[in-house]
Amino acid sequence: MTTKTYDAVVIGGGPGGYVCAIRLGQLKQKVLCVEKEEVGGVCLNWGCVPSKALIATSHTFEKVAHGASIGLLADNLRIDVPKMQGWKDGIVKKLTTGVRGLLKGNGAELVFGDARVVGPNRVQIKTKEGTTEVVEAKAIVIATGSSTIEIPTFKFDGRQVIGAREAVSLKEIPKRLLVIGGGVIGLELGCVYQKFGSVVTVVEATAGLLPGVDADCTAVVEKALVKRGAVIMKNALAKGYERNKDGSLSVSVEVKAPDGSAKLEKIVTDVVLVAVGMRPNGAGLGLEEVGVKVERGFVPTDTLGRTNVPTIYAIGDVSGVPMLAHKASKEGEVVAEVIAGHKAAKDWVSIPGAIFTDPEVAVVGLSETQAKEKGIDVRVGKFPFSALGRAMAVNETDGFIKVVADKNSHEVLGVHIVGPSATDLISEGALAVEMHAFLEDIGLTIHPHPTLGEGLMEASMHALGHAVHVMNR
Ligand code: NAI
Repeated sequence: MTTKTYDAVVIGGGPGGYVCAIRLGQLKQKVLCVEKEEVGGVCLNWGCVPSKALIATSHTFEKVAHGASIGLLADNLRIDVPKMQGWKDGIVKKLTTGVRGLLKGNGAELVFGDARVVGPNRVQIKTKEGTTEVVEAKAIVIATGSSTIEIPTFKFDGRQVIGAREAVSLKEIPKRLLVIGGGVIGLELGCVYQKFGSVVTVVEATAGLLPGVDADCTAVVEKALVKRGAVIMKNALAKGYERNKDGSLSVSVEVKAPDGSAKLEKIVTDVVLVAVGMRPNGAGLGLEEVGVKVERGFVPTDTLGRTNVPTIYAIGDVSGVPMLAHKASKEGEVVAEVIAGHKAAKDWVSIPGAIFTDPEVAVVGLSETQAKEKGIDVRVGKFPFSALGRAMAVNETDGFIKVVADKNSHEVLGVHIVGPSATDLISEGALAVEMHAFLEDIGLTIHPHPTLGEGLMEASMHALGHAVHVMNR
């Protein structure tokens, strides 16, 4: 039997791996992508995309349910959960089918199976059909992503103790939902279910929600959660649970007081969603055996995406934080170009973050605090959505746009948005940070009226002391 040879084998078909394989195909490289479940990875199948479908539906539901103040009356509004799930599954199917088509159309081979690195240029594949083969490749790309972290005392049972994967496919809306972890997943899905009527409790180990996000932005999200009836427990650890006779669960939560003392509280719930982070999938792939450095599951790389073994590359969640699909895709493109002999490197200024809570949060570049920590003198401009006609017209006025710039040069260092369509608005900020734009570049650009985007123009002018629709300092 002759061994198949490739220019590159990509292990993992998520937003890192499939993008890398497509780009390699476009660059006329002979490429094989190995995927053990379904192309699209976590993002398309049970993460970013399906959750956004539920988020959009819950947003519409809430708008209609509370539409009386804007003259929108709907009697007997209900949610058909199976129908919603079917619609969401349809989106996933369309997208995964699209990815398969793009791989094929660009000449990339796809095989379903489990891959293991057995040499600097060799990959063993146990296919879904039960065959085992070894292929040779000039380059190997590790794009195996990350997996949900479980808490030992909250083992997933698929029904009442669940992770994000099950939470996007619930068959009914739980009356009570306890979320362990006040991070991105916990709050995005917490928002969804509270809008559908669940009473939500968030148990967060640290003193704040959404770790790493500008505290001013987080405060707006927290206020909205509480306004919708959520109980937020901070400095709190979920220790374990007991099943009650009526099928509900009693969760023991240890809450730390500022003086260091701790008290135990019992919270009764119907479903527990565990969202305490993701663990990189760098172990168990045979990497250490061929000399690749693996650190706590991560596979470190250089600016070209190469590991310490030059024929082996890593991209996406497995290569390091932030664990974001768009970072994985960009790394996939860079590595494909490096493998094909083009001049490319990971040289971006900043990776934007987008959190689909309600209100949404989106950030790029440095926060005020981070800039100050770097010894940079900053000027900050802020514009509230409550002063924007379009925000009033869409009846979503919570939040603001904040621009952080170098005090003297006026270079835009960061943009922080909490409010309606923040996740779409951030792209202009990302372009500004990436291009080293100045406040004047944004502020003097004519933004169409009436749009939410005017807020970024106003915030930039506010930093310069020339905002028109808000008082300058
Ligand atoms: P996360 O890291 O965002 O948040 C986890 C939270 O759980 C933290 O606040 C942490 O302090 C808390 N925590 C940890 N152990 C705990 C415990 N025992 N009890 C109570 N709280 C505890 O992780 P999350 O939300 O699971 O998301 C995982 C990854 O998925 C993130 O890296 C994120 O980047 C990515 N993601 C991104 C999305 C987006 O950008 N819109 C959406 C969903 C996920």
